[in-house]
Amino acid sequence: MSLFTPSGAGASRVAGEIDSVFIFITLVGLFFFLLTQGFLIYFAIKYRRRKREEEEETPYITGHTLLEWVWIVIPTILVMVMFAYGFKVYRDIRMPPPGATEINVTGKQWFFEFKYPDGRSAINEVRIPVGKPVKFILTSRDVIHSFYLPDFRIKQDLLPGAYTYLWLQPEKTGTFDIFCAEYCGVGHSIMRAKLVVMGQQEYDAWAGGAVAAAPGAVPTVARGKKLVEDSGCLACHSLDGTAKVGPTLKGIYGRKVGLTDGKTVIADDNYLRESLLEPNTRVVKGFQPVMPTFKQTLKEEDIAAIIAYLKTVK
Ligand code: CUA
Repeated sequence: MSLFTPSGAGASRVAGEIDSVFIFITLVGLFFFLLTQGFLIYFAIKYRRRKREEEEETPYITGHTLLEWVWIVIPTILVMVMFAYGFKVYRDIRMPPPGATEINVTGKQWFFEFKYPDGRSAINEVRIPVGKPVKFILTSRDVIHSFYLPDFRIKQDLLPGAYTYLWLQPEKTGTFDIFCAEYCGVGHSIMRAKLVVMGQQEYDAWAGGAVAAAPGAVPTVARGKKLVEDSGCLACHSLDGTAKVGPTLKGIYGRKVGLTDGKTVIADDNYLRESLLEPNTRVVKGFQPVMPTFKQTLKEEDIAAIIAYLKTVK
């Protein structure tokens, strides 16, 4: 609906859903605005003062049970419908389908850096094939930025020291804007990037050529694997399910982990990141807090690569 959005029809199914929720809520609001304002004007005219005050006493009204029930029940149903409808779409926005291609995005003053799974990186431009789900894993190297794709109706902050994510599945080819939508300093207005959605064949041809042109690029998972091997992780963590000094890394990603303080946590990107940098903050139950921090030795890209690798250790 070009009436509500600057760039015309959405570029994904989810974008269409978000538009529908927005239009639904707007129309309900518009209906009640017209209803209440209509009555306001109507009553102002109908009950205007015609005679002098002392000749026209207003009636004393104490209540109207039916009317009260009507204006309680109908709006309650309407807001519940808004909630249910909005929540359904919110779930679609937040839950990437399994098997989505993961692309790491790092915000820096004042550009976006993209890292493909095959190890290539690009500044301010990311290319993906049409019709396939892509999950962007976002972080920032300095201040809070925001990753905003108006054609897809989605937006997510990039936070220093943490991961957030966003997913989309483009339904049509073309070039789409990516804006930083969080004021992040003097260069904020120039912090923008392009999402290029290509046909599958075109994409394959481009990706093949791009990989050949970047011979030094190591696929993220392979890089993570090497880092895990070279950093000494395997002295304390097994890959086959046996517990050593530390818990096994087999199937670690997404696992529900019991902690020494009795709480549980899902071993997601942020927990794994914390475990590398602040390993003794939330220790897995049954193990001693003896792991050293890798704060000094691992760079942010290394941490992302290790997490990408751990996702494959099943
Ligand atoms: Cu980055 Cu605004």
